[in-house]
Amino acid sequence: MTQLFGLIGHPVGHSLSPAMHNDAFKRLGIDAHYQAFDIDPAQFSTAIQGLKALGIKGFNVTIPYKVDIMEHLDEIDPLAQAIGAVNTVCNVEGRYVGYNTDGEGYVKSLLQVVNERELSAKHVLIIGAGGAAKAIFYTLASQTEKPKGIYLANRTVQRADALIGACPIEVEAEAVSLLHAKELLQEVDIVINTTSVGMHPNIDEEPLDLQRVQEGAIVSDIIYNPLETKWLKNADQAGAVPHNGVGMFIMQGALAFEKWTGRAPDKKAMEAIVLKHLN
Ligand code: ATR
Repeated sequence: MTQLFGLIGHPVGHSLSPAMHNDAFKRLGIDAHYQAFDIDPAQFSTAIQGLKALGIKGFNVTIPYKVDIMEHLDEIDPLAQAIGAVNTVCNVEGRYVGYNTDGEGYVKSLLQVVNERELSAKHVLIIGAGGAAKAIFYTLASQTEKPKGIYLANRTVQRADALIGACPIEVEAEAVSLLHAKELLQEVDIVINTTSVGMHPNIDEEPLDLQRVQEGAIVSDIIYNPLETKWLKNADQAGAVPHNGVGMFIMQGALAFEKWTGRAPDKKAMEAIVLKHLN
């Protein structure tokens, strides 16, 4: 019997997850299929009931359902609970368990360019205070080797303040304005854009003026469409190290795949599929 997996969201048309997961199933000889389901908000509860009735083995959750899905689950992992959003659901013998692999996926992709041990000596500046920022901030805070300090910059500073205040994990952090963040670039080692500023089709926008960025600092964008945002191109020109969002996308998917199947997918193959579709 072919096992069913999927993605729920609205819209989901451009998602690369089906191609990535279906290829991974094939490579490991797992008889399974991953399907994207575009669910109308008015039909959300009915659709979830339907997926459960069909015995779906696991699914990813994307915008706008990462919060709404939580009340339909039997159990929620503590980190996902703290983040307040679920992007991965596992059917464990009929019990639906929610996780958030976005933050962990991001941190794993960051650790490909920063040594884990070195992270504890770094000052990080996160731009944005939405769901993605929360997942990344809380996951960084929960690392054994956590950053020395985290600045959280947002257009609306109160939102950054609230995000830090609600974090259940002890970490040195401060909410700042975007204006202040521009100056702080002189002292931070890692800058992370978690907003959608610069994402296709608004490719001329940038989340923060990089004039004062340190040479060798890591400038990281969670956006992967375009692969290299204007902001990352500027970072490169300023002598910083650009880090795009492909790694986060692959790692969050690989973590979900491992939770569903107990098997580790070939991440290089996943990356190749994603890059083929983006280029
Ligand atoms: P997500 O869940 O994808 O993180 P979100 O919760 O809507 O999305 O959060 C979007 C983030 O991008 C917020 O930090 C938002 O800033 P505000 O809290 O001030 O709204 C930020 N953002 C979006 N568009 C922006 C823009 N044009 N300039 C600056 N920040 C922007």
